[in-house]
Amino acid sequence: MSGPDLRRAAAARALELVEPGMRLGLGTGSTAAAFVDLLGARVRDGLDVVGVPTSEATRRQAQGLGIRLATLDELPHLDLTIDGADEVDNNLRLIKGGGAALLREKIVACASHRMVVIADASKHVATLGAFPLPIEVNLFGLTATQQAVEEAIAAAGCRGPVDLRLGPDGHPVKTDGGHVILDAKLGRIPDPERLGTALWSVPGVVEHGLFLGIATAAILAADVGGQAEVTILGRLA
Ligand code: A5P
Repeated sequence: MSGPDLRRAAAARALELVEPGMRLGLGTGSTAAAFVDLLGARVRDGLDVVGVPTSEATRRQAQGLGIRLATLDELPHLDLTIDGADEVDNNLRLIKGGGAALLREKIVACASHRMVVIADASKHVATLGAFPLPIEVNLFGLTATQQAVEEAIAAAGCRGPVDLRLGPDGHPVKTDGGHVILDAKLGRIPDPERLGTALWSVPGVVEHGLFLGIATAAILAADVGGQAEVTILGRLA
């Protein structure tokens, strides 16, 4: 099975969690987009839910599908957020932000009673860190912030280069909030909580892509003999 098939299988399982009247956080990325597509089809068939998107891209997609939307200010408490991840470990700790939407994703997930991750099983890792850790920073004083981030990373027992994320046009990628992203290529993060705390101590860091104690479950789809087999980490209910 292809990656898109697996992502769709995970998204379809997540759709079973959606009940009429729910307030939903809508994630960002290709797996979350598969979920929003399936949700749009259910809405067309009469399902009444309201969604809070985690990015402008998701807002446009959901709007195009006729999904009723609200802002987090209008709906500060959500029932369920469905979102993808770049990595997930056995303790439901995540790396997110490969799509540069980590800040809104974290705000929305933390405002939700439940956050369920959907992913193909290749995202399931024993130790976080093979995927570069995205760190969203304010543009002001970028060089000083980057150096302080590097020091915080070393103090937390990690090592590896920290690079400003550039887009295909060679310019820094800007987030929906107008910030830029530093990608920390650490290989492995032995103590994610320690690293998260160290990064938050750096002025100029807006948010980091470690989601710790936020996800309540993960739906992971793997290809087993040409069929999508879904594994659940955590509790869906
Ligand atoms: C967006 O900023 C990310 O957190 C995505 O959720 C993550 O990168 C997963 O994306 P895919 O579903 O496209 O792999």
